[in-house]
Amino acid sequence: MSKFHAAEPHRVAPEGYEPLDLTPERWDDMVTLDEWAFTEPLQSEQRVALREAFPWGRGRGMTIADPRLGKPGTLVGIRGSFGLHMVVPGGERIATSALSWVGVHPGHRRRGILRSMMHDHFARSIERGEYVSSLFAAEPQIYQRFGYGRAAWHVRATFGRGAELREVPGTTDLTVRLERLSHEAHSELMSTVQRQVTRPGAMVRDSEPLAREMTASEVNDRPSEERLKIAIVSNPAGEPVAYALFRRRVKWEGYSADGTVTVNEFVTTTGAASRRLWGVLLDLDLSSRVLVTCLPLDDRLMMLALDQRSPKPVIEDDLWLRILDVRRALEARTYARPIDLVVGVSDAQLPANQGLWRIATEPWKATEMEPPSNSFTTGAAARHDGAFVARVSKVADSDREPIRVDIRLGIQELSGAYLGGVTIESLTEAGLIEEHTPGASRLLSAAMQSAQAPMSSFQF
Ligand SMILES: CC(C)(COP(=O)(O)OP(=O)(O)OC[C@H]1O[C@@H](n2cnc3c(N)ncnc32)[C@H](O)[C@@H]1OP(=O)(O)O)[C@@H](O)C(=O)NCCC(=O)NCCS
Repeated sequence: MSKFHAAEPHRVAPEGYEPLDLTPERWDDMVTLDEWAFTEPLQSEQRVALREAFPWGRGRGMTIADPRLGKPGTLVGIRGSFGLHMVVPGGERIATSALSWVGVHPGHRRRGILRSMMHDHFARSIERGEYVSSLFAAEPQIYQRFGYGRAAWHVRATFGRGAELREVPGTTDLTVRLERLSHEAHSELMSTVQRQVTRPGAMVRDSEPLAREMTASEVNDRPSEERLKIAIVSNPAGEPVAYALFRRRVKWEGYSADGTVTVNEFVTTTGAASRRLWGVLLDLDLSSRVLVTCLPLDDRLMMLALDQRSPKPVIEDDLWLRILDVRRALEARTYARPIDLVVGVSDAQLPANQGLWRIATEPWKATEMEPPSNSFTTGAAARHDGAFVARVSKVADSDREPIRVDIRLGIQELSGAYLGGVTIESLTEAGLIEEHTPGASRLLSAAMQSAQAPMSSFQF
């Protein structure tokens, strides 16, 4: 549980270490460190592809400065982040610092290297005007102490070949083509489909390094699996309305093929596009099953499948989120109900977030909302009539008028609930949020809930 505690002092580096900007000249050192941190060696082809995918200019590292700790200049810590725009409830896209490539040499662990890199990450992200930071967690315990809350889930499910799907009008008007994935041919096409998504948590690979990272995952040195393929669904005008990235792996038992199709990323924009896409992927030759590792909780495929039990859905954590600027983040999203509450926020790393915040909503009107300076909208249509927008302001106790605080919560809980997939009420019931005014937690919960289950469009 996050406590209402004093902010931590900022430390640039632990004693004996020195931070630095990562540059392409340090690539070999970065690969060596990556192998130390993650134990899995990178294959030669992957090394080349990933070098182009690294967010140079946003990557920082830590080196040895004190010879008693090792050879001075040796790289012992790395982190990078991608600059992305993420959909929040209501359809706004906010500037997001997507943390990735975090690793510390096992011989230098537990000395505060990660902690100082995180402080640096927050400070630089805020300087760039980014409202939140997001990540996918290899070990979720680590990031909770830095204020990241689990904000989204995804479902992993396995569908048998030929699994029956409900019919959807308009499906037969759509066409599907299957191609080998390439950066040149498909990056823009995938971004076009991603831009149509209004699901909270959805993002567009709108940076060159990220698009390159997708190409890097096309590279596959394992001989038993094919290179990444893409299925593209287009409407009669030839515009893409859905895509999925997939690989096939076939095991032969004598003359019998037992193949698995794995889909690690897909985006669909309508029910018909979804029906068309899965109609093809669930019936590829030589396959026995399709493993989908990235379904949103409310995805159309689970609604289309006639047999909902056989896929044996398993839920896993998806995006972890950390609000960097409470006021701007809370003002960028819409609310489903009107509220006027005072919320006490604790934030050990970012003192500007800490304190009492009044969140007071008013009905959303198309003409009133100016897009925040560092975001762009998915279009006014995404901000439904009937929604509310909030004015968020800091309030302070005075001797004469003590402030009534309705709820107290940590930045981790607020960040987890921000996209509307994790409810304030469930966090309160779990003892993670303190409710001071009876009913305030339920009210905030209902206001923050989202019409669509949040999920990222891709992993980074
Ligand atoms: C995880 C890792 C980055 C931590 O780096 P580090 O420099 O040892 O971390 P720090 O010394 O700065 O510790 C920061 C805090 O996190 C905690 N922490 C670190 N690793 C942890 C882990 N694996 N599980 C739980 N807590 C952890 C520390 O106890 C410390 O907490 P405290 O300050 O409250 O005592 C490093 O061990 C590593 O590279 N591991 C392998 C790769 C990996 O898992 N990367 C993360 C991918 S998402």
